[in-house]
Amino acid sequence: MTAAKRAINSDTDVAALRPTPPALVADTKPRPTKARAPLGVVELTLGDGQIVTVYGVVYGLEHAVQGDGYSARLFLDQYNQRIRVQDYQAAPVRPLVLSLRALADANGFDKIIVMARSDDWQEFLRFGYTLEAVLKHYHAGADAFVVSKFRSQERLASPGLMEETLLIEQITDAYPAKGPRRLAEGYQARLARPGDVPSLLALYAEIFESYPSPLKHASYLEHVFQKESIFAVCVDEAGAVVAAASAELHPEQRAAELTDCATRKEARGRGLMSHILLFLEEELRRREYICAYTMARARSFGMNRVFYILDYMYNGRLINNCDIYGAYEDMNIWVKDLRGRSVADIAAEQPLSQ
Ligand SMILES: CC(C)(COP(=O)(O)OP(=O)(O)OC[C@H]1O[C@@H](n2cnc3c(N)ncnc32)[C@H](O)[C@@H]1OP(=O)(O)O)[C@@H](O)C(=O)NCCC(=O)NCCS
Repeated sequence: MTAAKRAINSDTDVAALRPTPPALVADTKPRPTKARAPLGVVELTLGDGQIVTVYGVVYGLEHAVQGDGYSARLFLDQYNQRIRVQDYQAAPVRPLVLSLRALADANGFDKIIVMARSDDWQEFLRFGYTLEAVLKHYHAGADAFVVSKFRSQERLASPGLMEETLLIEQITDAYPAKGPRRLAEGYQARLARPGDVPSLLALYAEIFESYPSPLKHASYLEHVFQKESIFAVCVDEAGAVVAAASAELHPEQRAAELTDCATRKEARGRGLMSHILLFLEEELRRREYICAYTMARARSFGMNRVFYILDYMYNGRLINNCDIYGAYEDMNIWVKDLRGRSVADIAAEQPLSQ
């Protein structure tokens, strides 16, 4: 036991050992640009004359479409009023584009997002798609080109764009991407265990007013837990979960989305999230994943700073992408090639700061 640890005998002593967290920049609240989609009873059109009515809380539906010259796996995202194309085959892309347009219109969705490939993303432009971001290394090491089509003026227009652009300039100009500070004394980052599920639910309910996936529902969390998504937590000296994040796995792509990031208000600015994310990165490296990426709320100074500090590359912004904090928000894409520097490499080059 170290002298410092032996000396801890009261809460005041523990607090004294932690570095004082810096003044934190508050997030800008998103302004609603359109009404929230209903989730209770949802009618979805799957194709010509194929309509389903679903009862319960419906976030979305995975769906496969096939036609002359194309096939695709889609997510009909009721919560975020958009279609996400997970995977597709189409050469040329026109029949796929027409099918997506028909589906979006039939369901009243006003955004379509495609992770296009280097050899065809430019074809999408002529159909009104715009290049929003480059998700480097996403397709098993090859870049994905995130092309999106907006189908309403309100979805297309983002009131905070100037502010969001300045925020990235401010973060990347003002600080070096120096790696994380040392994890504050008394905290530990580890993989989440099944017994942590109630604490995770409580944490997410406390932090997120709304959320673009059913994260706050126990049955969903239990389903994806450590299978489709790896969760990691940071616990305090009493063993209580004070921060958490997950890596949503896309095994075919060897890519994972770092998401569901939340730190209790009173524990912010102590390096907890940085260490959870580094922990998840190491786990992904161990599983031979290539691409770690995130979609960070474009008006969250803290979230964008954390990924910058961890050496992620800013690669674009998805406009009015999802409803995450009570309204639609733009999301910044940050990417890391996991074949590059690991935590151990960073630490060797430059010791972690206090
Ligand atoms: C964003 C969030 C997860 C950051 O968690 P955290 O545990 O405070 O992050 P860390 O302490 O690891 O931050 C790493 C660095 O960024 C800095 N930082 C974090 N949040 C900051 C903020 N709001 N303003 C200024 N700097 C901030 C930290 O001070 C630290 O810098 P340092 O190493 O120079 O001291 C947390 O603020 C949060 O839960 N926000 C609400 C939920 C949310 O918006 N999640 C994102 C969804 S995309």
